Order: sequence, then C-alpha cells, then structure tokens
Amino acid sequence: MDVLLELEKRRQAAREGGGQRRVEAQHGKGKLTARERVELLLDEGSFEEFDMFVAHRCTDFGMEAERPAGDGVVTGWGTINGRMVYVFSQDFTVFGGSLSETHANKICKIMDMAIQNGAPVIGINDSGGARIQEGVASLAGYAEVFQRNIMASGVVPQISLIMGPCAGGAVYSPAMTDFIFMVKDSSYMFVTGPDVVKTVTNEVVSAEELGGASTHTKKSSVADGAYENDIEMLAEARRLFDFLPLNNREKAPVRPFFDDPARLEASLDTLIPDNPNQPYDMKELIHKVADEGDFFEIQRDYAANIITGFVRIEGQSVGVVANQPMVLAGCLDIDASRKAARFVRFCDAFEIPILTLVDVPGFLPGVAQELGGVIKHGAKLLFAYGEATVPKVTVITRKAYGGAYDVMASKHLRGDFNYAWPTAEIAVMGAKGAVEILYRSELGDKEKIAARVKDYETRFANPFVAAEKGFIDEVIHPQSTRKRVARAFAALRGKKLSNPWKKHDNIPL
Ligand code: HXC
Repeated sequence: MDVLLELEKRRQAAREGGGQRRVEAQHGKGKLTARERVELLLDEGSFEEFDMFVAHRCTDFGMEAERPAGDGVVTGWGTINGRMVYVFSQDFTVFGGSLSETHANKICKIMDMAIQNGAPVIGINDSGGARIQEGVASLAGYAEVFQRNIMASGVVPQISLIMGPCAGGAVYSPAMTDFIFMVKDSSYMFVTGPDVVKTVTNEVVSAEELGGASTHTKKSSVADGAYENDIEMLAEARRLFDFLPLNNREKAPVRPFFDDPARLEASLDTLIPDNPNQPYDMKELIHKVADEGDFFEIQRDYAANIITGFVRIEGQSVGVVANQPMVLAGCLDIDASRKAARFVRFCDAFEIPILTLVDVPGFLPGVAQELGGVIKHGAKLLFAYGEATVPKVTVITRKAYGGAYDVMASKHLRGDFNYAWPTAEIAVMGAKGAVEILYRSELGDKEKIAARVKDYETRFANPFVAAEKGFIDEVIHPQSTRKRVARAFAALRGKKLSNPWKKHDNIPL
C-alpha cells in the first residue's frame, strides 16, 4: 500500500511542474501548461507518459539542490482520432523549459521510438533555450535532437508547434521538421534576439517584429501558419494530422465522406471571366473539388500567388498546388517556387497524390527576381515535380504559358492525367507579346497588329493544339472537374513508379 501511495505522491509532484506560482504566470501570459497542451492535442485519456521521473544530473551553480521530476519536458505517446503519435511538450515552468542533457535524452528517446515504430512526432516548443547552467552538455543535447530530426525526415511526419520562446540554435530543430505553426503574440523564433542584433548591427527591433508569428508566416516563410491561441493551434494540429500518413510506408488514412465524388458544379462553367486579364479566385475551384469543401491550407499568408494545402477526394488525402490569378496574376516567382517545391516534396515523400491547378502567365519578370536567383529557385519546383513519383493529376483552367507550363506538373514531367478546361490557353506566351516579337516591323499599323493578335489567339489560345499532340489527355467540362479528378486518382491507386537508384539527388538548394 505504501508503495502505491509513494508512486502517487511522486506522480503528483511531477505533474505540478514548476509549482503553482509559475503555472499562474504561464496562464497569465495566455499560455496553457505543457500537460494541458498534451491533453488537448491527444484523444482524451490516450496519453502514456515516459520518463516522468527523469531528473537532471547537473551539479554546478547549486543545481543539485533542485531536481524537479521530468526536467522541463513532458514526453510520451498517445493517439489523435485513434492514430498513434509521439509527443514532447516543453514545460516553461521548470527552468524556463530550457534544454539540459537529460531533457534532450527524453526527446531523443521518443524520436527514436517514432522512427523505429513508424509514427509521427509532434513537438511543442516553449523554452528559454540551452540550460545555461549545463553549458556544452546542453549544446550536445541539441545536436542529438537535430541528428534525429534529420534521420526522421521523410520517414515519419514531424510537426513543430511553437507556443512560447524558441531562440538561438534551438530554432534549428523545428526548422528541420515538416511543418511549423506559431501562436500569435505569445511565440517567437530567432537565431539571435533583439539585444544581440542591436549590439552587432545597431538595428532596433522588437521580439515580435524579429520573430513573431506575423513575421514568420508573412515575410520569412519559416512558419506554415499562425493561430490566435493555444486551443485553436492544438485543434488545427489535430486537423492537419488527419491528412497525413503515419510514416513513409503507409498510405494516408481514408476518412468517411458524405460528398458524391461525381458531384457536378455548374457554377464552375462560368468561373473564368471573359476578359483573360481579369482575375478570379482559384480557391473557389479548390473548395468545389474537395470533399465537403474542406481545405487545410499551408503557408496561406506567404507567396499567395501560389496556393498549397491538403484536401480529400473520395476520402483520400490529396496535396493541392494551384496558381492564384488574384495575386501577381498567378505568376511564378522565387517565393512561390520555393513554397510549392517544399510542399510537393513533402507530398512525394509521404505518398500523398498531388493535384495541380494551373493558371500561370509565366515567371515574374524583374531585376529583383533575376538577381535573387529565380533560375535556381524556379528550378526547385521543376525538379520537385519531375522527381515526384506519386499520382499527379493536373487541370489547366486558363493560362499555361512558357516555362511555367512545363513546370506545373505537365505531361512531360510525368503528369499522369493532364486535363484542360476549354478556356485553357497553352502557348509560349500571350498573343500580344508573341505578335510584338514576331511582327515588330508592323507595330505601327494598329489594324494589322490587331488581326495578327486575333490570328495568334485562334491558333494557340485554346487547349486543342496541345490536345492534338497528346500533351493534354482530355479537354473537360469545368463543371465535371471533381468527378474527373476523383476518377483519375481512383485509377491511379495502384501506380508504381520509381526513379533510378541514387544515394540522393542534388536538387538546386
Ligand atoms: C536556465 C532558464 C533559461 C535557460 C530561462 N530560465 N531561460 N534557466 N537556462 N536558458 C529560467 C529563468 O531563470 C526563470 O527561472 C524561468 O526560467 C523563467 O524565465 P524568465 O526570464 O522569468 O521568463 P520570461 O521573463 O518570460 O523570459 C523568457 C526568456 C528569458 C526570454 C526566454 O528567460 C531568457 O532570455 N532566457 C535566456 C535565453 C537564453 O539566452 N538562452 C540561451 C540561448 S543560447 P525562475 O526560477 O525565476 O522561474 C541557446 C543555444 C542553443 O539556446 C544552441 C543549440 C545548438
């Protein structure tokens, strides 16, 4: 009996973390505690904890006097809608969630198990960084975690939730995971904070401006999404988890669906405006193709000229990449190419089929783009699509011009089903630009030029030239897009394609 009481007493002490005062301070900042977060993230009662009694071994700076059970991180496994996941959740109430050697060992233990047993890792980051009292032992601990992030990459999905400070070298663990989400106003990430920046470069900047959720979702693209508070973030993490497979050998889960895969959408027949220069919202098409209109967007606030995210079609997860004519006319640029390339590679690594919706007038022209290396960055997307062996279904709604036509999962990059709407224009460039080059000597004669433009349009501003060559498999009615896409993916369920053996590729980084 006594031993049972002793166990309960010890467990209780561990659950108290850094004590009532610090828990209140945590709540005062609008943050939940490490354990409250785990409870909300996982299915009720599913959490199994590891290493609850682990304590640090540091004897410097009087540390031996304070050895709280758990050492500032809660680790273990549980389920999300019945599917296995490993978690760690840093406890800011214990030494500021700082990472010691033993704290790192706990994280490494669950990561090793995740890789071995094939289940994702979700890391909740809320930490003052390296445990200052431990010095190099803490740095070693970080590197051990980094190495596991690298080994786990492409084997199990890794998701980082930044729910407090994440600074210094500590940022590089989330940076190597598949997705990073941040909580608005209560989280930040930077390699060197505002004080160091001020000392070295004399720039004055707040923590929020340097590394808050807005900065990382809109400017740096380090983070994939931002949420209002802890509760919303944890609920959305569960939603994303449901789209993903447990590991690279398993398929993503198939969810029940109540939406007819053959549903017709008459409104899509008029989605494309008469004026080819007028934009329309590509998200409307995504919502209308998806089961129940459900779309989990990745990097919504960055490079909005391309849209990336997950939908389900016939209950199966599909990654969507779509040009957005509402922003920069849907042109590809450096940011959009990088954003979409990373997304395509994630989908390919985890066998999630890719739907590509194309309306692209080309690569964005400009000195800034060229000097910024659009050649190398644009090549990332080209490379990612070309190497991907997952089922690839492409629908060209309107423009597919120039190199961007090739890049956007064209037939030539092993697209499996390449559809076009009757409104598609597949050409080297727009009619006006083409005529200005071909008939430079006639430019003074407006009538003649107008006739030339008309002629070019009739010849090329349609999908039929490409369809005649077999580069487009079928010209489809816009209203039947969901049905056609669903049938295409169904036909591809048994697809087997592999690339030549190599150690790894050399994607233009
Ligand atoms: C040990 C730490 C700590 C740390 C915070 N604490 N950071 N203990 N090591 N790194 C402790 C504090 O002493 C305090 O203890 C409690 O956590 C809460 O900290 P506060 O400062 O009171 O909280 P707050 O005001 O919210 O400020 C949070 C903070 C600040 C901005 C994170 O604590 C801070 O600047 N910490 C130091 C950050 C840092 O320089 N870390 C090392 C970075 S280098 P009590 O007992 O009072 O509650 C690094 C390299 C990684 O991380 C390299 C990887 C390769």
